[in-house]
Amino acid sequence: MRMRRARVEDLPAIMDLERVCFGPWRWTEDFMREMMADGAVHTMVVDDGGLVAYAMMHMYQDHRMAELLSLAVSPQRRRQGIGGCLVSFMEREVAERGAGAVMLCVRPENQDAVNLYLSRGYRVLARCQGYYEDGSDADIMVKQLGGGE
Ligand SMILES: CC(C)(COP(=O)(O)OP(=O)(O)OC[C@H]1O[C@@H](n2cnc3c(N)ncnc32)[C@H](O)[C@@H]1OP(=O)(O)O)[C@@H](O)C(=O)NCCC(=O)NCCS
Repeated sequence: MRMRRARVEDLPAIMDLERVCFGPWRWTEDFMREMMADGAVHTMVVDDGGLVAYAMMHMYQDHRMAELLSLAVSPQRRRQGIGGCLVSFMEREVAERGAGAVMLCVRPENQDAVNLYLSRGYRVLARCQGYYEDGSDADIMVKQLGGGE
């Protein structure tokens, strides 16, 4: 199993993961392509003879803050530490570039993701009502980096 930077050729496999992990809430292929081409967005994939996971982090321009934009692990490969590993790797990467904190948005009912983030030191900062396109709320979670967590 290998973690590496995403390449444009990974787009179809990333979209397969999006479909299986996010269903109707997945991003469109055009939006995903745009994000992958954005120099401020870092995309990592986990390759195990096929893509089994990916994560995307946006580094804000002043480099003091980053946002975890997406994280998805193939259903057959969950609870093996892959999601946590991707999050830790990306936190280290943005910390080295000067980010002091990472934020993310998550559906409060997505317990798998909320548990992962809580176990990694994220805390709920606020609930944002009607944040998602379907009108659902989002929890905004934040983690300070460099605090030894
Ligand atoms: C959320 C997701 C990325 C987790 O990936 P994963 O590789 O299974 O996560 P890990 O194995 O690294 O789990 C790390 C910790 O998170 C928590 N966790 C993850 N899945 C959990 C579950 N189903 N139930 C309870 N806790 C869970 C646990 O604390 C776990 O540690 P443990 O296995 O030692 O108990 C994965 O379930 C997924 O892709 N879900 C669909 C897409 C999604 O919701 N992405 C997040 C959008 S914000």
